[in-house]
This record gives sequence, structure tokens and C-alpha cells, in this order.
Amino acid sequence: MAALPTDAVVAVIGAGAMGAGIAQVASQAGHNVLLFDARTGVSDRARASVGATLDGLAAKGRMTAESARAIAGRIVPVHALADCAAARLVIEAIVEDLDAKRDLLRELDVIVDADAILASNTSSLSITSLAAGSKHPSRVVGMHFFNPAPVLPLVEVVSGLATADGVSATVHATALAWGKFPVHAASTPGFIVNRCARPFYGEALRLLTERAADVPTIDAVMRDAGGFRMGPFELMDLVGHDVNFAVTKSVWSAYFHDPRYAPSVLQQDLIAAGFLGRKSGRGFYAYGADAAKAVPLAEPDAPAPEAVRVCGDLGSAMPLVARLEASGMRVVRENSDPRFPYGALAVGDTRIALTDGRTATVRGRDDNCPNLVLFDLALDYSRCTRLAMARGDRCSDVSWRKAVGMLQAAGIAVARLDDVAGLAVMRIVVMLANEASDAVMQGIATATDIDLAMQKGVNYPCGPLAWADRIGPAHVQGVLTHLAAHYGEDRYRTSPRIARVVAGGGALGLADERA
Ligand code: NAI
Repeated sequence: MAALPTDAVVAVIGAGAMGAGIAQVASQAGHNVLLFDARTGVSDRARASVGATLDGLAAKGRMTAESARAIAGRIVPVHALADCAAARLVIEAIVEDLDAKRDLLRELDVIVDADAILASNTSSLSITSLAAGSKHPSRVVGMHFFNPAPVLPLVEVVSGLATADGVSATVHATALAWGKFPVHAASTPGFIVNRCARPFYGEALRLLTERAADVPTIDAVMRDAGGFRMGPFELMDLVGHDVNFAVTKSVWSAYFHDPRYAPSVLQQDLIAAGFLGRKSGRGFYAYGADAAKAVPLAEPDAPAPEAVRVCGDLGSAMPLVARLEASGMRVVRENSDPRFPYGALAVGDTRIALTDGRTATVRGRDDNCPNLVLFDLALDYSRCTRLAMARGDRCSDVSWRKAVGMLQAAGIAVARLDDVAGLAVMRIVVMLANEASDAVMQGIATATDIDLAMQKGVNYPCGPLAWADRIGPAHVQGVLTHLAAHYGEDRYRTSPRIARVVAGGGALGLADERA
């Protein structure tokens, strides 16, 4: 399906933060844009502010002064909805209210041509509900930009039950022509990103509730081992706890209180205290000139062991071995040990293994290995600068220090977590993949689009499904099974698609996932 030609007029309704940004994007792509807002003067001010932004870009050499002027010149503020009659594509970005949006769509029904597309930038309302009552529900579609629209590349193209395939295909092609990364999604609560990202916040909040470690330490592990640009707590502080909590609650209630999405009492308390994050000067962190810098905890220096034994294949953690060797440590290869299907490192009688979702205490007892230390998942073991580890209750101090000294010798700071199930990065990534996998199974989006959406919409360093494939689907399934057994909660139920992929020997991130 072809994109709308650039000579097609685009109308943007609602000239707030999103509407102004969307108008800029459409105009930058060459369209004439009609900009309407119900409040007098708002669309004129929005155009002026887009003009100032473009002038700023020109001053920085990012575009010529002529193109800045031309782009701003193509945005025409209009002062009545009826002035949008020429539009081939209308994108509404008015207040997030179902009745207001439905009224607007009904008004537009008789203003624009019957084959013009009516797109909504809603981030939480059902496209199916929005379209119901409109004269031509098949032309109503979601076109969900992220804030700020000119900067963030993702656009979720959301189809309601009545949306025509041709309409979503045209909007997808148009977003692509506008330089965006569009993905298709079925209209379900949270669409792709706001649903599939829930575990990033939810599991981090649970780790904190369980006192796995303090806020800066968990954030540092997620950044320095997980490769996320921001840790979950600093990100929630940036988004605002009121906003983040409201999205969590809306997804949770839209899925009839599925425990997967249950909100956190801890976050509710922050809101009750008025600690909304950066915007209020305090959230998980304190902000302002006199705020003390929060420092992640790291284990004190421990001596480097002379030798380490490698039992079996460590899979994606294998680059650790090269780092240990490069540090001058003697590395001895040994046969695999049936207790460690994903391999282990050994220093004396200390065993150091990647988490499988059990606590070190339980695993040490089950596998008759008291001096067991577990390490966490890293995005890239060849480069990570920090790694979380936990020790079982029967593990000796001497054993723990051997494990710490080993990682420190390889240039890796050790964050000690309490002995929690699945540690931090593994637990969060596995739960992200579990959520993404259910979304694929339910036909909400393809695996490829979900992975793309999470990278382009919330900056994840890797799509959760591709990441799960790297860990190994069977390992991921094992972590989830152990989490479910540990907590006895439906929250950790394994996505049936993961079980199927493990049984069938496929991959979670395959493009033809439903084949
Ligand atoms: P905003 O409050 O900054 O702007 C909304 C504008 O719509 C206001 O200027 C208001 O005067 C105008 N308006 C209200 N009712 C109207 C009507 N019936 N006709 C014409 N204009 C009307 O809101 P914002 O943040 O720009 O959000 C707009 C939409 O975009 C909402 O649906 C929101 O959920 C969605 N969205 C917001 C994101 C964000 O981060 N702010 C991100 C993605 C989507």
C-alpha cells in the first residue's frame, strides 16, 4: 500500500504538545498541514513555537534557514473545524477523553470526504470504541506517536475491530515515508509499548519491595549490565509517578486485574507523599542543587583467585571466560556438571553460575552445592562494567569473596543483591519477553514489530524476544517456572508460546511466529 502523496493535505486537531509535534513531522515530510485547536490562539502559538524550534535547528546547522521557513510556512493554523475539509488524513491529538474524541470524529464525518482517514493519537483509549458510532468506522485508525513526536521514531498504527486493512496499511506507509518506524498493533489495552513495558517497572518495584538492593544499585545494574539507557527508578522519576502509576492501573483494570500488571503499593505511597519524581523535586531520588548524589553500592575489593575452572558451556556468558583469561587468571576447562546445565565457574569449592530463577539458597540445597554464588544476566558479558551477584544462606564468606575477586579481576564491579529469585536483569528481561510473547500469541503484533517497538519507543538495547532467544528459550522458560514456584503467583505464569517454542525447537523472535 502506498503512502499518502505529499500533496495530500493533513489536518491535526488539538495543538498541544503532541499536536504541534505531529504537525511539524507532517510538514517536514512535505505536506500542507492545517492545525486546529478548540481554544482560541492555541494553534497560532503552536505554529510559532514550531517555527522557533525549526529556527533553532537551522541555527545549529541541522537544516537550512530556507527549509526551516518552508516547513513552518506549510503549517496553517485554522480557526474552525470546518476549515479542515480538504484534509485526506486527519490526526486528532485532543484531550484524552473518549466522549470528546467520539464527538470530534462524528463532526469530522460530515466535514471531510468519505474516504479521508481519521487517525487518533490516543495512548490509552480503544480504537474500536472510538470508531463505534462514527459513520465510517472502517477509516478510523490509531496513529500513536511518542513524545516528543519530532524526535521519537516509533509510531504504533493501531487497528480497531472495524478498521479497514487498507487504511492501516496507508497510515503505516505514510509514517514510514515521514521517516518514522511504524509498527502494526491490534487495539488492546496499552497497545504494544505501554503493555509490554510494564514488567520493566513492575518487577523493579517488586525487587525494591523485597529489599533486593537499594534504588541506585538496581538502577546501576540495569544500566551497566542490562545495557538499558536508564534504570527503572530513574526512568519512573523522569516520566512522573502519577503518570506511570496511572498507565499501570489502566492496563491492570483493562485486563480485569490480571496479577501480571498489578500496581505497586510503594509507588502509590510516593504519589501520596507528593514525591512525583523530577517534576516535584523528589521521587526515588532527590533533585535540586543541594541534593546528595545517590551512589550504587559495590562490594569492597577482594583478592583475585589464581585459577578458575570452567565447567561446561556458559552460553551467552562465555565472554566472561575470555575476560578472566585476559586478566592473567589461569583458566582450566573441565567437563560439564549435570547440576549446571548452563555451565558454571569454579574457584576451589565455590561454584559461580548464571541464575536459573531459583534463589541461591534453594538451588544450593537442591543441588547439594552449599558454596553457591549466582550471577545475573548481562546484555554483553564482554563489555559489562557491573554485574549483580547473590549468595546462598549457607555460602561461606570466603567463597563469596572468591567469586567477587574473580569478577573484579576481570574489571567488573560487583553489586550484591539479596538472595532474590531470578536476580534483577534476568528477572526483568524474562518477564518482558514473557509479556511480549503473550502479545504475539494473542495476535496483537508480530514478534518483529514488538521487538522494534520496544527498541524505538522506549530505547531498549535489544528487542525482548530476540534477547530471550539469545538467553535460550528453554532457560527463559526455566526462570519463569522457578519464579512461579517461588512466589506461587499467577503473575509469573509462562506464556504458552514460550512453552510451544521450547517444545518445537523454534525461536521466539521469528518473523513468521504464528506459522
Ligand atoms: P495537551 O493537553 O497538551 O493538548 C491537547 C489540546 O487539545 C489542547 O490544546 C486543547 O485545547 C485541545 N482540545 C481539547 N479538546 C479539543 C477539541 N474538542 N477540539 C479541538 N481541540 C481540542 O495534550 P497532549 O499531551 O498533546 O495529548 C494529546 C493527545 O495525545 C491525547 O490523546 C494523549 O493521550 C495523546 N498522547 C500524549 C502523549 C504525551 O506524552 N503527552 C504521548 C502520546 C499520545
